[in-house]
Amino acid sequence: MSVYSILKMGNPLLREEALEFSKEEILHKDTRYLLDDMWETLEIAGGIGLAAPQIGVSKKLAVIKLSEESDRYPDMETSKAYVIFNPKITILDSELQGFWEGCLSVPGLRGYVERPRKIKVDYLDEHAKKKSIEVEDFLATVFQHELDHLIGMLYVDRMEDISTLTFEDEMILQEENEEEILD
Ligand code: NI
Repeated sequence: MSVYSILKMGNPLLREEALEFSKEEILHKDTRYLLDDMWETLEIAGGIGLAAPQIGVSKKLAVIKLSEESDRYPDMETSKAYVIFNPKITILDSELQGFWEGCLSVPGLRGYVERPRKIKVDYLDEHAKKKSIEVEDFLATVFQHELDHLIGMLYVDRMEDISTLTFEDEMILQEENEEEILD
């Protein structure tokens, strides 16, 4: 297995619409190796999701796993490990919910993004089997964020108010100040 370096915002590959996989490609051993490398890269980076374009592979594949041990997103429940090929999103509840999103391709920054709170995702799994899941709350945001990478979009494109873009270390300082005020 190998750990990839993650492309950063400004790299044109992050702005391309990725190509779909054929079933044969999904089942090919090279894709299994790619998946192993994506999981390892995600773990080393300490993230909760990674899309293939972020490691320079412009194909419709993303992996997602929320981990309680994540330093980047504390107070989060652990989720299943999702392997998502060729996803299609349907919005089930268009009511918006906002989270402070970060991205391994936009290191050091967070921005406030509102997205629909519940979605359905139709996709193929690692066995090229059709799957359909409904996700809501924070997991719905994570899915939408990761799957945006497959159509060349980054969370900054979804920000209503770009002035909320904040460095993570500054955010920690502000939170500490707020706690002092609350005390
Ligand atoms: Ni991202």
